[in-house]
Amino acid sequence: MSSHHQHDVLIIGSGAAGLTLALSLAEQAKVAVLSKGALNEGSTWFAQGGIAAVLDDNDTTEAHVEDTLNAGAGLCHEDSVRFTVERGEKAIQWLIDQGVSFTKNHDNPDYHLTKEGGHSHRRIIHSADATGKAVHSTLIEKVTASPNIEIFEHHIAVDLITEPDTSTGKVRCSGGYVYNRNANTVDVFQAKAVILATGGASKVYLYSSNPDSASGDGIAMAWRAGCRIANMEFNQFPPTCLYHPKAGSFLVTEALRGEGAHLKLPNGERFMQRFDERKELAPRDIVARAIDHEMKRLGSDCLYLDISHKPKAFISEHFPNVKARCLEFGIDITEQPIPVVPAAHYTCGGIVVNKQGQTDLDQLYAIGETSFTGLHGANRMASNSLLECIVYAQAAAESIQENLNDIVTPSPAAGWDASRVTNSDEDVVISHNWDELRRFMWDYVGIVRTRKRLERATHRIKLLQKEIQEYYSNYQVGNDLIELRNLAMVAELIIRSAMQRKESRGLHYSLDYPNTSGVARDTILVPTNFAAQEIFVRS
Ligand code: FAD
Ligand code: SIN
Repeated sequence: MSSHHQHDVLIIGSGAAGLTLALSLAEQAKVAVLSKGALNEGSTWFAQGGIAAVLDDNDTTEAHVEDTLNAGAGLCHEDSVRFTVERGEKAIQWLIDQGVSFTKNHDNPDYHLTKEGGHSHRRIIHSADATGKAVHSTLIEKVTASPNIEIFEHHIAVDLITEPDTSTGKVRCSGGYVYNRNANTVDVFQAKAVILATGGASKVYLYSSNPDSASGDGIAMAWRAGCRIANMEFNQFPPTCLYHPKAGSFLVTEALRGEGAHLKLPNGERFMQRFDERKELAPRDIVARAIDHEMKRLGSDCLYLDISHKPKAFISEHFPNVKARCLEFGIDITEQPIPVVPAAHYTCGGIVVNKQGQTDLDQLYAIGETSFTGLHGANRMASNSLLECIVYAQAAAESIQENLNDIVTPSPAAGWDASRVTNSDEDVVISHNWDELRRFMWDYVGIVRTRKRLERATHRIKLLQKEIQEYYSNYQVGNDLIELRNLAMVAELIIRSAMQRKESRGLHYSLDYPNTSGVARDTILVPTNFAAQEIFVRS
C-alpha cells in the first residue's frame, strides 16, 4: 500500500550537503531526509583528503580565490568563488561545533593543514585520510538524535512533482514520487520546500572512485522537471585510484602528493616535470592527462605513486586508511610504489542555482555536488567540494527559513499510476544496458575526446534511451531501472555539452579543438519545458 507524506521541508539525499541543511533547519521546521540506501551511502563518507579553507595566518582569502580561479581554467564565476571562500572559516567552525574531530599538530594545539594540487598554501583541514567519515558520522549522529528530522532510508526519489502556483502564476515544485525499497511501493512525499542533495553522476563511467549511488538522479530529475543544467562536459578524473583487479574503486588521496609522493613510470622514472613545472602538484586535470598520455604511450595498464621515501611513522600517521587498504592487496606503501590509474570522480556541472541554492523552479533547491554554483569552473580544485556542500547548504537554509511561513502548503498530489505496468521478466535488459552505457562513456567521452567519438556516443545513447524508456513505460520501477534511466539522461547531457564545446579547457580536452578559446563560456542546456520566470545571469 503506497503512502502520502507531508513535511515542511523534503531533503532528497543524506550526504554532507543534505545533512547540513537538515541540521540547520531542524529547530524551525519538520524535515524529511531521504536516502537511497543507508544514511552513510554517498560520496561524503569516502572523502579522504579534507576540506579547503583559509585557516592559517599566512594564507589569505585572495590566495584561495586565485588558486580556485586558476584551477578552474577561466570558467569559475568569481562571485561564487568569493562567496564560498569567504564563508570557509565559518563552515569549518560549524563542523567543529558539531563535534567533528580534525587532526591536530604534534607540537602545538593548531589543526594540521595539508596541501593538495593547485593550492599555493597549506589549507586543507582533515581527519587523517578519512575526513569524509569523520564529518559524515558526526552529522549522522546529530540528525538521528533530532526530534524534528524524520529519516527515510532505502527510499529513492523517482521524479519531482510540480504544480502551477496559483498565488504567483509560476510553476513550483511540491514534492516527489519516491520508491520505497522496503515496501516495493511508490509513495508521495510533499513539502513546502524541496531540496535536491543527491550527489554527482560519476557512475556514468566504467571506472569511478564513487559509490554506486552516484547516478546523477538529482540532475536527471531536475532536467525532466524543467530546470537548466550547466557544464556537464567537465567531469573530473583524479589521477590516482588504486589499480588492482579486486580493489573496486578506491581513491588514493591527493594529499599523498601534497606530502611529497612522486608519480613514476613502470621503470621508476619521474615524469611530471615534462608536463608542468608544478610537477605532482599541478591541478588534477593536468596530472590525469599526463598519466593517460604516458599509459597510452607505453601501453601500460597503470603507473605508480611512490611515498616510500618518507619516514614510515609519518606515512602511518597521515595515511592509515590508504596504507591499510593497500596492504589488503599485498602492497606496503611504506616500502613500495602504489599502482594507480585515473577514474571518474567528480561532476563539476549540474543543476543551475543561485547563491541561495535556488533552481529555476519555485521552492526547488539544489545543493552539493548535484548543483552548478559556478565555483568549480572547468576543473574543481581539490577539497573545495565539501566546502561548497556546507556553505551552500547553510545559505539555502537561511533562504528557506526566511520564506517558509509565507509558502502555501501544496495541494495533495495524485498517487503514482502503476496501472499499466507489469513485473519485468527480463532484467538482463537493465544489466546489459548499464554495462554498455558505462563502457562507451569511458571509451568515447573520457579524458581525451574527439568529434568522431562523441558522434558515436550520441548515436549509442539515442538507441539506449529508446530501449530504456520503453522498458520504463512497461515495467514496474526498481532501484536499478531508476538509476539506469537517470544515468542515460545524464550521459546524454554530458555528450551534448561536450559536442557544444569547440575548444579544450580544463577537464574537457578535444583532439579536434586542442586550443583554448579567448572567451570563456558556460555550456547551459535549456529543457524544452523550461519553466523559469527569470534567468539569472552571472558575470
Ligand atoms: P553525497 O555525499 O554523494 O550524497 C548523496 C546522497 O543522495 C546520498 O545519501 C544518496 O543516497 C542520496 N541520493 C542520491 N540519489 C537519490 C535519490 N534518487 N533518492 C534519494 N536519495 C538519493 N571532496 C572534498 O572536498 N575533499 C575530499 O577529500 C574529497 N575526497 C573524495 C574522495 C572520494 C573517494 C570521493 C568519491 C569524493 C571525494 N570528494 C572530496 C568529493 C566529495 O566527497 C563529494 O563531492 C561530496 O561528498 C558530495 O556530497 P553531497 O552531499 O553532494 O552528495
Ligand atoms: C583526495 O583526497 O584526493 C580527494 C580530494 C578531492 O576530491 O577533493
